[in-house]
Amino acid sequence: MSGTVLVTGIGELVTCAGPDGGAPVADRSLPADQRLGVVRDAAVVVADGLVAWVGPASQAPAADRALDVGGRAVVPGFVDSHSHLVFAGDRSAEFAARMAGTPYDGGGIGVSVTATRAAGDDELRALLAARVAEARALGTTTLEVKSGYGLTVEDELRSLRLAREVTDETTFLGAHVVPPEARADRDGYLDLVTGRMLAACAPLARWVDVFCEPNSPHAFTGEEARRVLLAGRDAGLGLRVHGNQLGPGPGARLAVDLGAASVDHCTFLDDADVDDLAGAADTTVATLLPGVEFSTRMPYPDARRLVDAGVSLALASDCNPGTCNTASMPFVIALAVRELRMTAAEALVAATVGGARALRREDVGRVAVGSRADLAVLDAPGHEHLAYRPGMPIARALEVS
Ligand code: NIG
Ligand code: FE
Repeated sequence: MSGTVLVTGIGELVTCAGPDGGAPVADRSLPADQRLGVVRDAAVVVADGLVAWVGPASQAPAADRALDVGGRAVVPGFVDSHSHLVFAGDRSAEFAARMAGTPYDGGGIGVSVTATRAAGDDELRALLAARVAEARALGTTTLEVKSGYGLTVEDELRSLRLAREVTDETTFLGAHVVPPEARADRDGYLDLVTGRMLAACAPLARWVDVFCEPNSPHAFTGEEARRVLLAGRDAGLGLRVHGNQLGPGPGARLAVDLGAASVDHCTFLDDADVDDLAGAADTTVATLLPGVEFSTRMPYPDARRLVDAGVSLALASDCNPGTCNTASMPFVIALAVRELRMTAAEALVAATVGGARALRREDVGRVAVGSRADLAVLDAPGHEHLAYRPGMPIARALEVS
């Protein structure tokens, strides 16, 4: 249906935008509501999938149709800037073993690679579609999706083709781990990833990513990761890094050094890493994935230290079969508030406009004139309920058209 739509009856609208529609106001002397961009008894006009007007309902212009959300809260749709949704197979036994004390080291990725290679296209497409639908049903409106469970030219290409059917934010992760069949020849595998595989995959990807983790025998060292990222950059891809997940390491430093859009995990950072990230806050986002620490029993990242240092933060799900098999952004927000000690406002900003920054997007993550009309509605009077009612399905993407 075309024409303009007046979304009305919004008890609390959180725009995650400043008064001019730009970034949320960082000035901590201002009240939290003002910083977050809260409008009570609000309305939004949507035209052609874009936000055309935002403000108090009493001042709303006329529109062709009205959609009354009955006093609920509305927030920007969540921007999940890190997921691995193209996979087959099940690793619940690995999860159970971890809960009983076995540490995570990335070795299980090979299990998912075997299952993913064995799956037919239709099966993989259906699994992916179901996961995207689950995320959307919980309020996610933008999703980044990585390859990384194929690890041959054909299988990586297939993963990216399927990912491309559900999002433009596709990431080539041929350097997820060295696959089992290439263990005797790491360099040969890196030649493939930075050569023929990259050349085949780059046209289907916006980003290149690498699991930079010297603490895992399966993943890549700083030098190897640099090689992957430089080759990706030469192929025209933006850069993302899995770094500092299992222990201290070079990932964050490398991401800052190469101007990556994001370094993700950031669980083990030293003071120099934090200083580097704070100095690069306009370029490189630190993306926290607390669902991973929940599902691996690792310590949570120190979000307060990062907020206080002025690091640009995002929250994402990392939904994958190994370290975090959930794409629920409300769950991630609840963890961020309860375990990472972020405020409800900080967590919401990180899960929306923070994720948008991590994807270098200005058209999503906030509710402002000209941005995409990607809204999430909450069965709640305010955004704090996302953490206050953990596990309850109170958020969903709002279908406006
Ligand atoms: O982001 N750390 C690397 N990759 C995923 C886990 C992948 C897996 O175990 O299957 C992550 O945590
Ligand atoms: Fe990941």
